[in-house]
Amino acid sequence: MASAKKPLDLTGLTVPQHVAIIMDGNGRWARRRNLPRIAGHRAGAENLRRIINACAEFGIKILTIYAFSTENWERPEDEVRGLMNIFTRVLDQELKDLHRQGVCLHHLGNLNGIEPALQKKVRDALELTRNNDRLILNVAFNYGGRAEILHAVRQMLADGVSPDELTEELFSSYLFTAGLPDPDLVIRTSGELRVSNFLIWQAAYAEYVAAPEMWPDFGREELYAAIVEYSKRDRRYGGLSQKS
Ligand code: IPE
Ligand code: IPE
Ligand code: MG
Repeated sequence: MASAKKPLDLTGLTVPQHVAIIMDGNGRWARRRNLPRIAGHRAGAENLRRIINACAEFGIKILTIYAFSTENWERPEDEVRGLMNIFTRVLDQELKDLHRQGVCLHHLGNLNGIEPALQKKVRDALELTRNNDRLILNVAFNYGGRAEILHAVRQMLADGVSPDELTEELFSSYLFTAGLPDPDLVIRTSGELRVSNFLIWQAAYAEYVAAPEMWPDFGREELYAAIVEYSKRDRRYGGLSQKS
């Protein structure tokens, strides 16, 4: 399967500093092959390595991936269990390599409600990789944008933050992404055009790209195509174009 890498020229392109991906379409990828949905999730997990490598190659500094939403608990129990098993296996098998590659792992979301053995693996992985700086990989796992905002508000109330001191910067510092720049580009695979509760505060001014490929088929060249598309965008932030 591994074919020679096609050279991809970044000259003249604007490479986003922070890319966030809604990794969607695993189930449909599997169904089209007459496979069970879980086979799609396995293929999706495999695909991560390709995308992490491509991010490092293209000079993307921060990658945020949506792995499991607060709403995904609504899925059948065996699918949820299968997904948890895949996360466990990915941590067991990939952590050493990720660490060697200089990947710093962050978790976005709530670990409460996750089985204790997996919670511990996640915490250990965060601790092991905390000083790495080649690529920051934020894993949104048991993550929902609304739950994140409520979590932040609760924390601020508990800290006694007064209405006068509340600014956008302070609010951002209570989110799971505290200290990180907002995403520049949000990619959703599988052609769906919705946000599905992903980074609803942080992506206020992100550029969105809907990629038609199912997540397991979204590789280096597709990521490159998204960067080409991003480079054509005119980010005005409510102001006037800098380009003309
Ligand atoms: C994304 O693929 C993976 C997760 C949500 C965990 P889906 O499982 O949503 O795949 P489709 O959308 O059903 O094809
Ligand atoms: C979003 O995909 C969540 C993840 C990719 C983890 P979903 O497949 O859960 O989203 P909906 O249900 O189509 O909005
Ligand atoms: Mg989906």
